[in-house]
Amino acid sequence: MRKEAIGIFDSGVGGTSIWKELHELLPYEDTIYLADSKNAPYGPKGRGPIRALSKKNTAYLLKRRCKLIIVACNTATTNAIHYLRNHYDVPFIGIEPAIKPAALKTKTNSVGLLATKGTLSSALFHKTANLYSSTINIIEQVGEGIVPLIENGQLHSKEMKALLNTYLQPMLNANIDHLVLGCTHYPYLIPILRTLLPKTIKIIDSGEAVAKQTKAVLEKHQLINPSTKVSKHQFYTNGAADVMQTLIGSKYKAEYLNF
Ligand code: DGL
Repeated sequence: MRKEAIGIFDSGVGGTSIWKELHELLPYEDTIYLADSKNAPYGPKGRGPIRALSKKNTAYLLKRRCKLIIVACNTATTNAIHYLRNHYDVPFIGIEPAIKPAALKTKTNSVGLLATKGTLSSALFHKTANLYSSTINIIEQVGEGIVPLIENGQLHSKEMKALLNTYLQPMLNANIDHLVLGCTHYPYLIPILRTLLPKTIKIIDSGEAVAKQTKAVLEKHQLINPSTKVSKHQFYTNGAADVMQTLIGSKYKAEYLNF
């Protein structure tokens, strides 16, 4: 089992931002990445459909004998991870908005959070947010439209810049000093966000924490791959392979798969 791949899925190409952190920390682990781009965005769908899609993605990764699954999607984690853990034996790693580090570090007591509707309305997110909302002001914003633009290859478009400007304004008015990116597509926005935000505002995402947690869980279950050979990485999408290819770079190949 130790030599089997780590499975990763997201509603689309965003989770490749998590894959990058994972590969940096665990270079000898093989991976299989699934982008369910055909069904993106998950954010507006509601809990039932998000669970069903998460189950479908998991079933494919288990068919490929993955030893651990990373739900590289805040929306799928907050709506489906308990369900997945109750239904399958394999260890699951999830991702949630990094409210805690922002809450601990803020000096203005004001933190911005950009996430999907599905994440912001989930019970799991509310549980975390409630731990901090008595001491800090969390300016929540649904990033409506951002995921579809990224999935359509329009990351660096005028529309994207205009959307971000609109979404950031209430946060700037509330004097935030941290912006939490609560969706795995959003780390790809960092270069644009840096041009729109004052330098003093820190941008936080959860990628590194997920990679560290994955390593700890693999160690706990004695599932670390003992190999020191070059690892193998398969990237599948049921949407546009060229969009995924741009994000993962030329060293790896994005392939179309009907799953
Ligand atoms: N990358 C997903 C997340 O982290 C995007 C969800 C969506 O498709 O709306 O939430």
